[in-house]
Amino acid sequence: MIEAFAAIAARPSTSLPFPSRPVTRYAHITGWGDGLPPAVLTNQDLSTFLETSDEWIVQRTGMKERRISHVSAIEMATLASRRALACADLDPAELELIVYGSCSPDEQVPNSASGVQIALKATRAAAMDVNTACTSFLYGLASATAMIQSGMVQNALVIGVEYISPFMDWSNRNVAVLFGDGAAAVVLQASDEPGGVIGTVLGCDAEARQTLRVRGMGCSYVQGDLHYGDTLWDFDGQAIFKRAVHGMSEACARVMREAGVTADDIDLVVPHQANLRIIESVAKYAGVPMERVMLTVQRYGNMSAATVPVALSDALAEGRVKPGSLLLMPGFGGGLTYGALLVRWGQRITPLRQSDAALPPVSQTALEMVNAIRARQDPHGRSLDALMSTRFIEAVAG
Ligand code: ACO
Repeated sequence: MIEAFAAIAARPSTSLPFPSRPVTRYAHITGWGDGLPPAVLTNQDLSTFLETSDEWIVQRTGMKERRISHVSAIEMATLASRRALACADLDPAELELIVYGSCSPDEQVPNSASGVQIALKATRAAAMDVNTACTSFLYGLASATAMIQSGMVQNALVIGVEYISPFMDWSNRNVAVLFGDGAAAVVLQASDEPGGVIGTVLGCDAEARQTLRVRGMGCSYVQGDLHYGDTLWDFDGQAIFKRAVHGMSEACARVMREAGVTADDIDLVVPHQANLRIIESVAKYAGVPMERVMLTVQRYGNMSAATVPVALSDALAEGRVKPGSLLLMPGFGGGLTYGALLVRWGQRITPLRQSDAALPPVSQTALEMVNAIRARQDPHGRSLDALMSTRFIEAVAG
């Protein structure tokens, strides 16, 4: 395991900016906002239909509650986007790029970024989806930064959003307790002022891609006798845990080294929130004490692509980001993709404007919504053969 990561560390850097190309334009985060659904699913709620307990979940994951959405992913993303644009006081008509980071799109075709574009009337904006699972926001932020630095666009809206509850395998206590729904977005703008996203390390430990698979999503299953929405979460939790810690720790070390900063310079770590114990291990390897780590895992669980931008938005609301703060954002996800970004915050830590956008009211409790999804699922009656029969590339390559 350690050797595998030493090999990754020795590879040529994929960091941005490239050392050979001096940066003359910078990408600053000038707007932020969340789009969280209000319905809360507690550990106690989960224990009404799973053999689990609040004590087990808190002890092994740090999670106490998570959100369940009554609206689509695009609606959550649009709310977050309206708040982020108001925060930056940027007219949607001036937006040049929308990056929609997610692995749970409302539809495959058309893409989801186009759904946000039309809702915002951001008619000038290019619109693309990025799916690297839980790292989709970080990969999206890195891509948008590169496009701003190259001069291709002047600004970008980068979204992290996930609507996991409809395709969660609610019969599997190993995974059903871990995830929640949510969204958040940031606005990036070009500037000559040094700062913003100043370091980017991205990578993929594909050797372990089979350790984290959601069977039932994707074209490989089309031929099978499958009940759509019935999934089988093929996870090796402990293997993912170890790879996640090594991948994120390595990415943190590399991004700090390449930017010429040390752990003492980091004001706040804003990590992916998959498990409190993973975050504690990464902070320990990075050399940053837990007092300088933003934690939201207890209130939202793992919202995949949405965790980092929601944690950033909460950190700003709680006054934990100061003018000029240096932020370290590590993440990992299916693939196994991983990465770490460094952000030198600007001078402004409050919104320029507030948006009055809101989600429609919710009429059911989170538990009622989950029970309605469970009633439609088929775990895993006639779907099991179809879920298990598909062969994947690593079996062929292996
Ligand atoms: N409630 C009660 N008991 C449970 C539960 C539950 N929800 N889930 C598992 N258990 C049981 C197991 O069956 C096992 O029982 P046994 O000893 O009788 O066999 C026991 O608890 C211990 O299980 P472990 O798997 O050893 O528990 P561990 O401490 O490794 O924690 C966990 C499991 C939380 C999944 C951890 O491994 C983890 O966080 N892994 C990575 C998380 C992950 O994969 N996140 C998704 C990342 S992907 C992304 O972010 C896209």
